[in-house]
Amino acid sequence: MCGIVGYIGEQDSKEILLRGLEKLEYRGYDSAGIAVLNENGVHVFKEKGRIADLREVVNPDVEASVGIGHTRWATHGAPSRVNAHPHQSASGRFTLVHNGVIENYAILKREYLQDVELKSDTDTEVIVQLVEKFVNSGLDVEEAFRQTLMLLKGSYAIALIDSENKDVIYVAKNKSPLLVGLGDGFNVVASDAMAMLQVTNQYVELMDKEMVMVTKNSVTIKKLDGNIIDRDPYTAELDASDIEKGTYPHYMLKEIDEQPLVMRRIIQKYQDENGHLTIDPEIIEAMNEADRIYIIACGTSYHAGLVGKQFIEKWAKIPVEVHVASEFSYNMPLLSERPLFIYISQSGETADSRAVLVQTKEMGYKALTITNVPGSTLSREADYTLLLHAGPEIAVASTKAYTAQIAVLAILATVTAKAKGIELDFDLVKELGIIANVMEMLCDAKEEMEKIAREYLATTRNCFFIGRAVDFYVCLEGALKLKEISYIQAEGFAGGELKHGTIALIEEGTPVIALATQEHVNLSIRGNVKEVVARGANPCIISMKGLETEEDRYVIPAVHPMLTPLVSVVPLQLIAYYAALHRGCDVDKPRNLAKSVTVE
Ligand code: G6P
Repeated sequence: MCGIVGYIGEQDSKEILLRGLEKLEYRGYDSAGIAVLNENGVHVFKEKGRIADLREVVNPDVEASVGIGHTRWATHGAPSRVNAHPHQSASGRFTLVHNGVIENYAILKREYLQDVELKSDTDTEVIVQLVEKFVNSGLDVEEAFRQTLMLLKGSYAIALIDSENKDVIYVAKNKSPLLVGLGDGFNVVASDAMAMLQVTNQYVELMDKEMVMVTKNSVTIKKLDGNIIDRDPYTAELDASDIEKGTYPHYMLKEIDEQPLVMRRIIQKYQDENGHLTIDPEIIEAMNEADRIYIIACGTSYHAGLVGKQFIEKWAKIPVEVHVASEFSYNMPLLSERPLFIYISQSGETADSRAVLVQTKEMGYKALTITNVPGSTLSREADYTLLLHAGPEIAVASTKAYTAQIAVLAILATVTAKAKGIELDFDLVKELGIIANVMEMLCDAKEEMEKIAREYLATTRNCFFIGRAVDFYVCLEGALKLKEISYIQAEGFAGGELKHGTIALIEEGTPVIALATQEHVNLSIRGNVKEVVARGANPCIISMKGLETEEDRYVIPAVHPMLTPLVSVVPLQLIAYYAALHRGCDVDKPRNLAKSVTVE
């Protein structure tokens, strides 16, 4: 949550910072600010709302070649101009942006800052006040910054400027992501390479508990003990067009439409020269050495994990448990003797998942991360990584990453099965090819999905999704999509479970979207639909070719029965998209959410 940027060079920094922040809005968008520094001192512009709102208050006449910026997802203190970053020290000399949570901020305030009047409700402000306090006690700025960092408990990515020295941006990181980008005669700072792709594709990764002094011509990385670190830059393999909407009205629609292409890309990336699916043998060995696999994830990635469990258990014959990361951390189940942990995370930065990874690593267990972002924290810190190759996903509601996660899990399961000598009676390459084609057909059915959204969801206050077996897991995802972007209260239920309580909520006209893609439960789910219809529900059955009946609203072309989630989710994504549009919601940036959740 929260995105930060910084620029130090020769050009005016305002536009570079604002454009950078626009690219980071996925990390938070309830308020934003920039601070720029020139010979007249520091100029701070902040506003509640989006970067577009911030643009309105930035004075175009102020020119400055040094600056920092921030887009916020509030943790401490409501979204407001006062709580927006940058924050300043009491005298106004130091100005700072921060992403993360300072867990001991109240203690620090009490112990060190009794005599300082804080202006905001944020945990962040203590950092900048502490730096000034240490400088006032006689330390130079770098040492004051270091002393401050030593006191902080929690997570942070920080950029700090000093109005008495235009030549340096002080930067530090712990747990929250941060990169330094290298240019010719300038350098930049960003939470994500995407933000500064406009000016450079050369980046240096920062590690936890490092501080960095960035000037326009140099980058000095130090450990908190003062040791200097030498680190080579890497080239960010991002294409600027991947992060543009093009002709699409929303990133979400673009990303839904990209799913067939992503399927084909995944097949290609995981094929060897003979066309066989392949995965790093060390990963397969770790899979086969495990007596139980624990999948840890959050949100949509957790839903993909539930589907993946089916593949690994049914094909590779290894028992799997799937856990929500934020629960697992504090309520760890009894582990098996030889567990393998699989972390699924689109961003590779989710703090809840990372907290578990840190724990399980300390316990000595191996970890595999399945992520869309090479070099992300979860990828770096795990023993092995499998990439999704989905391209940047920018809409807060995850779509193409979900289907990519499922496809990669399917590949992992089949390759593991093969290594064990288990014969499978299908060819996954062929099946995923069929999936890509069917996805294309479903993406072409936008008009029909728009009609369903209008008919069922234009005015309703709630909606239920029901399914059995693997359809249930897709219902969880369909409901999550709908609630996060349209704010309709939506819940996914196992078809048989509704009657044990939730059916009490069914009223005349309540929309119930039912998935019927599984032959062995087709009759039962249809029975469940009858139960809700008898109580007034307005049913919308989405079924699979071969299982359809006359009452079905939409029939998906047939695919391999285990792989149906890859296609049945597409209509649900589109229905959620159009429902949100009809209700006038901000599809790509739903309220209260952020894409990359870097606080626990
Ligand atoms: C946030 C996003 C969700 C996402 C979840 C997990 O809540 O809004 O779309 O599923 O984080 O993110 P990850 O990057 O770990 O998959």
